[in-house]
This record gives sequence, structure tokens and C-alpha cells, in this order.
Amino acid sequence: MAFLKKYLLPILVLFLGYYYSTIEEFRPEMLQGKKVIVTGASKGIGREMAYHLSQMGAHVVLTARSEEGLQKVVSRCLELGAASAHYVAGTMEDMTFAEQFVLKAGKLMGGLDMLILNHITYTPVGFFRDDIHSVRKALEVNFISYVVLSAAALPMLKQSSGSIVVVSSVAGKITQPLFAPYSASKFALDGFFSSVRKEYAVAKVNVSVTLCVLGFIDTETAIKAVSGVLNAEAAPKEECALEIIKGAALRKEEVYYDKSSWVSLLLSNPGRRIMEYLSSKNYNLERFLKD
Ligand SMILES: NC(=O)c1ccc[n+]([C@@H]2O[C@H](COP(=O)([O-])OP(=O)(O)OC[C@H]3O[C@@H](n4cnc5c(N)ncnc54)[C@H](OP(=O)(O)O)[C@@H]3O)[C@@H](O)[C@H]2O)c1
Ligand SMILES: *[C@@H]1O[C@H](CO)[C@@H](O)[C@H](O)[C@H]1NC(C)=O
Repeated sequence: MAFLKKYLLPILVLFLGYYYSTIEEFRPEMLQGKKVIVTGASKGIGREMAYHLSQMGAHVVLTARSEEGLQKVVSRCLELGAASAHYVAGTMEDMTFAEQFVLKAGKLMGGLDMLILNHITYTPVGFFRDDIHSVRKALEVNFISYVVLSAAALPMLKQSSGSIVVVSSVAGKITQPLFAPYSASKFALDGFFSSVRKEYAVAKVNVSVTLCVLGFIDTETAIKAVSGVLNAEAAPKEECALEIIKGAALRKEEVYYDKSSWVSLLLSNPGRRIMEYLSSKNYNLERFLKD
């Protein structure tokens, strides 16, 4: 009975809470007038997110390396009804750029409600031998820059009770041959941002963290990268982008999007949730909460 009260009941409440938290309906007005950053927005899923956000009447600041690409996306965003649309071009290999970019975007929009982290560097597909450079680059661009961007954005996000949205992959939850450096960088995102989400909960920082677990999506880059390697059907990038925005607006912890709807069921990992809940009981966090 004591066991039931101490463990089973809270777990049940946790699951029910999780279930009912997903019941609130998405409305496009949720994004109206919101101030949103999208990284990796010159093409692919990032570009589609920028278009959806614009149709919903959000302010957007976009980034990627290609100035030409960004220029085109920004003009289309304005046509689609963005409250405002700007871009700042630069590379996320440069952490000083990453930090400065967030401050600049904040100035352009007068604050920040949502930080969508989506860019990735190109990683060669193949068996890992000794290409340390690719591993380091994948970690720098796909992971470290996300940490830098979110740290720079946190003061503004605290003020707006805003959201951090991290675009990851099924390859950040399961492993396969051929993508070791990419996979490592995506697992790192889960480790870091899911930890930080727990810290925010304890410290009562009302900034939501949404981790997006995507399957194979029909962007030009992805199709080219895995052609002749992966025999699977790609899901549409437009719908994928919309699902990310919906999940982010509803402040979900995780969004799953894949051609197959089994993915969310199989990867949501109740064992991990239960372990995390149980181990949280063993920590004394008082002295970390002072500042
Ligand atoms: N497509 C899929 O099948 C799939 C599956 C699972 C997860 N995802 C995730 O979805 C996200 C978007 O993927 P996608 O397929 O849409 O990719 P994409 O079409 O190749 O777009 C990548 C974006 O990142 C930018 N970028 C590349 N290198 C950069 C750098 N060094 N600094 C700053 N920006 C850089 C690119 O623009 P520039 O080249 O102009 O810099 C582009 O805007 C990624 O996080 C990816 O891991 C995709
Ligand atoms: C956190 O922020 C959201 C979005 O602004 C708001 O709906 C929610 O009530 C806030 N929660 C708390 C505990 O303040």
C-alpha cells in the first residue's frame, strides 16, 4: 500500500497529466504577433516553418549562411503576411556570430517568444574510420551552437515565458550505421535540452523546451544524402514544419513526426520516464536554487 502511494499513484498522475496536456487544441492565432527566430531557414524544413509562421502573422528573424536564399525567403514571408520579416546571414560554426545573432534578432523584434533551432551542417554518409573533423564539426554546429543560441536567448525567453524548440531526429533516439557523427550530435541535444527542461521545472523558469523527433523528410538535402542508401518513403516537409509549430505552441515536451505513426509509440520510452521520475526523488536541489 505504501509502495502504491509513494510510486504508482504519482506515476499514474504523471501519465494522465501528460495525456491531458496534449488535449488542448492548436489555433493559428497562438502565433499571431509572436516574435520568432528560425535557424537554418534558407531551405528545407526551416524555410517551411518560416512560411507557416508568416501566414499565422508572426514576426520572424531568419538565419543561415546563404544571403541570397534568405533574401528570397524573407520576401515570400512578407507576401504571406508576416508581421515583420528580417534575416541575418552567418555561419553557426562561429559561436560569436551565434550569440550576436540572437541579440540582433531581439533588437529587430523588440523581444523574443520562440527560438527554433533547426540548422545542421552537412555530414558525409558512411562508416566511421578516422574522420574526427566531421565529428567535431557536427558537434560544434548541430549541438554547441544550439547551446550558445539558447543561452543568449534565455533572458528574453524568461521575460516572455517563451519557448525553445529543438529540431532533432529519430537518429537522436535510435542508432543506425552510416550516420555516427550526426547521430552523436542529435543524442547530445536530447541529453542537454531534456536535462535543462528538468532544471527549468525545478527552478520555476517558465520557458518550454520542445524536442522534435523527425523521421525521413522530403527536403532536397535529405533525399540527396540518402539516395541509394535508405529505402524508405519520405514525409512532406510542409506538414512536418506545421507539426513542429503546433507542438511548440502547445508547449509539448516532444513532437514526433514520421511517415509511420508507430514511431511516437515506440520511441516515447515510458521506461525512461519512470526512471527519471524515480531518480528525481533522490536529489537534494535546495542549495542550487538560491540564485
Ligand atoms: N530532412 C530529413 O529527413 C530530416 C530527418 C530528421 C531530422 N531532420 C532535421 O531537420 C532539420 C532541418 O533539416 P533539413 O532537411 O530541412 O535540412 P536542409 O534543407 O539542408 O537545411 C539546412 C539549413 O541549415 C543551414 N546551414 C547549413 N550549414 C550551416 C552553417 N554552418 N551555419 C548556419 N546554417 C547552416 C542551411 O542553409 P545554408 O546552407 O545557406 O547555410 C539550411 O538553411 C535538421 O535539424 C535535421 O537534422 C531532417
Ligand atoms: C507559463 O507560460 C505560459 C505561456 O505564457 C502560460 O500559459 C502559463 O500559464 C505559464 N505558467 C506558469 C506556471 O506561470
